[in-house]
Amino acid sequence: MKLNPPNIDPEFIPKHIALVMDGNGRWAQERGLKRTEGHKRGEAVLLDVVDACIAMGVPYLSAYAFSTENWRRSADEVRFLMGFNRDVLARQRQELHEKGVRVKWAGRRPRLWRSVIRELEAAEELTKDNTTMTLVMCVNYGGRAELVDATRRLAEDVKSGKLAPGAITEKTLGSYLYDPEMPDVDLFLRPSGEKRTSNFLPWQSVYAEMVYQDKLFPDFTPQDLFDAVEEYARRDRRFGGVKK
Ligand code: FPP
Repeated sequence: MKLNPPNIDPEFIPKHIALVMDGNGRWAQERGLKRTEGHKRGEAVLLDVVDACIAMGVPYLSAYAFSTENWRRSADEVRFLMGFNRDVLARQRQELHEKGVRVKWAGRRPRLWRSVIRELEAAEELTKDNTTMTLVMCVNYGGRAELVDATRRLAEDVKSGKLAPGAITEKTLGSYLYDPEMPDVDLFLRPSGEKRTSNFLPWQSVYAEMVYQDKLFPDFTPQDLFDAVEEYARRDRRFGGVKK
């Protein structure tokens, strides 16, 4: 696909986009299809979003693929989504590798299907030296779960004497998160019309610019991403300070 990214000063390109791939189920239901058909459409859309990020020079993209709360969906849908995540990784890992994408996984291990973990780890291993951009697949990810998991590991280090409670800083806690290298989220993007964050990257998004769009994810295009980045570039970010 020929992409025409907007001409934006690199200073105003987000370094990390958090993407909630939402609206697949509704897209399918509106067409009288099974919800899973919407998820299937999402696969190509995610790949287009990766291409659009590369075209704009966005170095980090986190995609919300399955949340710690998504286990509440029907057993059929959960089973589909587990198999789907596994197969998307198996199908796309070589192409992502050829594009120079480094794939990482952020999420909780318990409960996640072993075959999904295997594919996530295979993709991580294959792409670990790539530098064009990083795609974080957030699978069995929850923001609160991430903070609980980090706190547990941090408490172990305090207990064993490796860490003094008084020495704990924001940076220390950040280093216990699933991906300690993950930069703060600059642009938090949710298509689908819903205006909420749904437990996605709360620690990393405290100063993110929120952009909500009305498109359902299967209809989402690179142009929608370009529009979101243009809107982001126009925002006035102050980080608690005052405008210079
Ligand atoms: C959060 O909304 C949305 C997600 C966790 C995205 C789920 C994404 C998929 C199922 C598709 C995966 C697609 C690919 C290509 C791997 P929510 O519905 O969990 O939260 P809410 O109930 O607050 O809306």
